[in-house]
Amino acid sequence: MKIASIVGARPNFIKLAPVDKELQRQGLDHIIIHTGQHYNYEMDRVFFDDMGIPSPDYHLGIGSGSHGFQTGEMLKKVEEALIAEKPEAAIVYGDTNSTLAGGLAAAKLHIKCAHIEAGLRSYDKDMPEEINRVLVDHCSDLLLCPTQTAADNLKKEGITENVYLVGDVMVDAQRDCQRIAAEKSQILKSLKLEDRDYFLATVHRASNTDDKNNLAAIAMALEALGDVVFPCHPRTEKYLKDFGLWKHLTERINVIKPVGYLDMLLLEKNAQKIITDSGGVQKEAYLLGVPCITLRDETEWVETVDDGWNVLVGPNREDIINAVRCFEPDHECQDVFGKGDASARIVELVAKLAER
Ligand code: UD1
Ligand code: UDP
Repeated sequence: MKIASIVGARPNFIKLAPVDKELQRQGLDHIIIHTGQHYNYEMDRVFFDDMGIPSPDYHLGIGSGSHGFQTGEMLKKVEEALIAEKPEAAIVYGDTNSTLAGGLAAAKLHIKCAHIEAGLRSYDKDMPEEINRVLVDHCSDLLLCPTQTAADNLKKEGITENVYLVGDVMVDAQRDCQRIAAEKSQILKSLKLEDRDYFLATVHRASNTDDKNNLAAIAMALEALGDVVFPCHPRTEKYLKDFGLWKHLTERINVIKPVGYLDMLLLEKNAQKIITDSGGVQKEAYLLGVPCITLRDETEWVETVDDGWNVLVGPNREDIINAVRCFEPDHECQDVFGKGDASARIVELVAKLAER
């Protein structure tokens, strides 16, 4: 029985790691098809190294481009790889353009497809990821939901069959890597950081980066807060430079290259607060019990907000500063993303799907 995973971007790799490990543990034949959506060492290879993911069997080398171009090129080449390999099932992860291309290529070839992180919705159709989520959910054969909210969202769209609440694979990823991160990562020492004496920021959502006013408001808020460590996504670096904000910001706060997963876990765990527009980072902040200020008007990870550990704030300088200074959760986090057994449950269901 052969299973093919299709990945291409940073959050795909992180979700792939525990699933690949479990597929190997259960002795299933697993091939990895990498679209090449992300390609800088620190956006790509570092995750394979940090998390012990085998090198991809196929590297399609698509790279960057407009949404239509990038997704179209991926669709063509993923299809070729799937035709050559003839897997019994495919797995796609999250909501990137690589996820959409993989899901669509599999569906068109009648290869059964499992979607990990099914049912997530922001209900904002201007967000490219929202289009990807909806389309992939509607063409997948197995919908693997991280939360009850996600399963409920699918139900609202009429999807009730082959839906399973399995928990979140990012809990598994964190569990697998936390000890290794504590042993191996030198990031706190190399940046001379003390426990809880800094804010950690990540920004890369198109709505925040591609609009000059929004990005300037965020940059000015980070600058005013000071004591910020900011692993900067290449998209954000490009726009900060294009909008003339880069030099100013790098003189005032600690802007660094994106970091690997092990370094990121330590930066998150020891931060006083996390400021982010990332889906995965919101969740990790919650799992680590670090207050999170999310630079968006809505989130798919509503449980983190409902539980009082995440606060949403749009791209407004004063609002961001106030939220970061004032937000203090007053109780323990709940256990809403599962217990770290999602990958085992997923592999069991994918194996059954492949036999169907
Ligand atoms: C993509 C995903 C987003 C995810 C993010 C994770 C889509 C629609 N978006 O957004 O859901 O949260 O990845 O990080 O799939 N670039 C480089 N080197 C790289 C990668 C990107 O320089 O290795 C630059 C290029 O200028 C590129 C830009 O970043 O045009 C955007 O990259 P792209 O993969 O298109 O989207 P992301 O913003 O990374
Ligand atoms: N991440 C990382 N290094 C960084 C920034 C993020 O390892 O410099 C990890 C983060 O810990 C999380 C994942 O990337 O596991 C989230 O991916 P990203 O923010 O790129 O995308 P999103 O989750 O928003 O789709």
